Amino acid sequence: MANEEADGGGSPLQVPRGTRDFGPAEMAERRRVEGRMRETLRRYGYREVQTPTFENLELFTAKSGPAILDELYGFEDKSGRRLALRPELTAAVMRFYYASLAMEPKPLKLYYFGNCFRYDRPQKGRYREFWQMGCELIGPETPEALGEMVALGAALLQDAGVARLAVRIGHLHLLYSALDAIGWPSSGDRRELLRRIDKWDERNVVAGLDEAGVDDGARDWFLSLHDVATLDDLAACLDAAPRAGERAEEAVARMRTAASRIREVLDCAAALGLDLAMVRIDPLIARGLDYYTGVVLEVDAPALGAEKQLLGGGQYDLSGVFGGEPVATCGFALGFDRALVAVAAEGAGTEVAEGVDAYVAPIGDAARRPALVLAAKLRRAGLSVEVDLMQRTAGKNLKAAASRGARVAVILGGREVEGGFATVKDLASGEQVEVPLAAFADWLSARPPASRAP
Ligand code: HAM
Repeated sequence: MANEEADGGGSPLQVPRGTRDFGPAEMAERRRVEGRMRETLRRYGYREVQTPTFENLELFTAKSGPAILDELYGFEDKSGRRLALRPELTAAVMRFYYASLAMEPKPLKLYYFGNCFRYDRPQKGRYREFWQMGCELIGPETPEALGEMVALGAALLQDAGVARLAVRIGHLHLLYSALDAIGWPSSGDRRELLRRIDKWDERNVVAGLDEAGVDDGARDWFLSLHDVATLDDLAACLDAAPRAGERAEEAVARMRTAASRIREVLDCAAALGLDLAMVRIDPLIARGLDYYTGVVLEVDAPALGAEKQLLGGGQYDLSGVFGGEPVATCGFALGFDRALVAVAAEGAGTEVAEGVDAYVAPIGDAARRPALVLAAKLRRAGLSVEVDLMQRTAGKNLKAAASRGARVAVILGGREVEGGFATVKDLASGEQVEVPLAAFADWLSARPPASRAP
């Protein structure tokens, strides 16, 4: 059996592993959902930016460390420059900000839609090339700003047709200070444990805590954070926290501050329309990327299976990477491909009508040039038009018109060309009328779309 990389590896007929082709119907649906999302972002005052598909490798390794190399499509160009296909866009947008946008008035609200590349293990909802719709809010770190970010995250998905959402809100101080409170050494590498917490395999987490010598009481308290769902649960949990010395006391105090921060943010998000019934407090959100600092959020679609996380983000700091003035930053990105799966799972997808307005069918060779002239005229008038390019017979042309979902077939034979009119067949009703060529574009534009063929 070939190794797992072999399929799709070499054959010119197969796409590379983890990538996809999108046919016309799928593209129409993708563009429809993309349009809905852009519209929501516009209503929240965001403006679009675009950055390169590949960047200097260091942009991504600077903050996340060499561990990210396993996930990256890195390569050297012909001059030996070390580059990478972008795995996400936040670092690139902040590079752009520090290079060119730092003087823009605040808040600066930027959004992007672009393909990203990660050397992930492909499965449904997880790809090596995928698309993110994301936004960055630069300048404010008020509860209003963070609340708006959370409300926007939910609105983007709901407006696109994902009604059932599970929003989880956390704060990195909750997680890090909880580790401090149980005496987890602050020096040393927490990454492996954070990864286990992020995936939440309890046995693995327990093993990690045991390895670090955390005592049973402290460990059980830490595990109880996993059951927290509300701010009241969190408050009760904090009351029961281990009080083993000054360091633990300080850690719990930091957790209380983080909890009240979350309360303020959720108050603002609710005022902006977020339905709090779908929100859960999750003190153990770790986030995979290493630049997060404060409030973090993740949004899942319960209707999906393993890859149900649709959106992730929070407050972060990348100023150190660029040596620029620190500036408050928060944002999120949603997995566009996963969002589409969720839209379809909820039955909110739409068959986007892909038909053309008219199919021009010449009868006989003498009508072929006039047919092209008529097609050009209709296109100039803004109609979508196909004209026979295959030199088909009249009968085959009518079939082709129907299979292209044309509203009308425009039949142009010698009699029509001479008389300056066209015979128009409505493909839904079968009704046939003669329309003067001079008035044809206006006549077709004026027809109600209800007569459009299915
Ligand atoms: P992220 O959580 O790594 O965050 O990615 C955001 C979303 O992209 C995920 O929630 C998921 O839906 C989608 N995603 C990630 N990997 C894949 C994949 N292999 N296939 C399909 N979808 C995937 C970020 O990228 C941050 N830059 C978000 C952010 C913006 N933070 C602050 N501002």
